[in-house]
Amino acid sequence: MFLSPPRWFAHRGGGSLAPENTLAGIRLASRLGYRAVEFDVMLSGDASPFLLHDETLERTTNGRGLVCQTSDAVLRCLDAGGGEPPPTLAEAAQLCRASHLLANVEIKPSSGFAVQTAEVVVRQAQQLWLGADLPPLLSSFSIEALEIARDLAPALPRAVLFETIPDDWLCIVQQLGAVAVHCCAEQLDENLARDIVDRNILLRCYTVNAPETAKSLFALGVSGLFTDRLDLFAPTPSSGMQSAA
Ligand code: G3P
Ligand code: MG
Repeated sequence: MFLSPPRWFAHRGGGSLAPENTLAGIRLASRLGYRAVEFDVMLSGDASPFLLHDETLERTTNGRGLVCQTSDAVLRCLDAGGGEPPPTLAEAAQLCRASHLLANVEIKPSSGFAVQTAEVVVRQAQQLWLGADLPPLLSSFSIEALEIARDLAPALPRAVLFETIPDDWLCIVQQLGAVAVHCCAEQLDENLARDIVDRNILLRCYTVNAPETAKSLFALGVSGLFTDRLDLFAPTPSSGMQSAA
């Protein structure tokens, strides 16, 4: 267990220093001293959870077409960067547990697959982190997915993701039993941020790659940031840069 929640989350595994959503990225984050990583999980055509961000394969792999129509066998032969195939949730979980990393598992359903994706990811997460000192943090932009997480695995912490925080955010947080709000840094309103923080709800922002922005957000009471710039915020003792702790 952490004495305090990590302030820095490596975004999509290793941020911009490694191919996104890969084991190489997660390893890099760990090597650089990060205590938390965020990655996106989507179902294959065989309903298996893989670390992938887009509904289509073209941007992050050498494959083509829709993830939800691609078999596990095909996904396992793709290159997601550095010759590595898209990892399974099980592979990522094993690595995070071995590296003592907090895993923020973002449930990222393909369109129309929110229920199925949440059911599979949540059930697997329960098994994969069984007995772990550091359970995964489940998050999603899909309220439907988080409702399933709440009902299937109430003990696993949940964070609700918003691009822009809606007026009824508190009602959503309460209904989901969420411990945190994750939102887009650029869309964050200062008064709203203070309101969230004053209610002792953890507020985290994505994706922050500039030290000045990080400083202002922490000053507002934001408790954690997702970054692609693992190099800027890594805890190198001699650099005097912001610690990743
Ligand atoms: O979970 C925070 C962040 O990853 C949300 O945006 O598009 O990078 O998954 P995205
Ligand atoms: Mg994400």
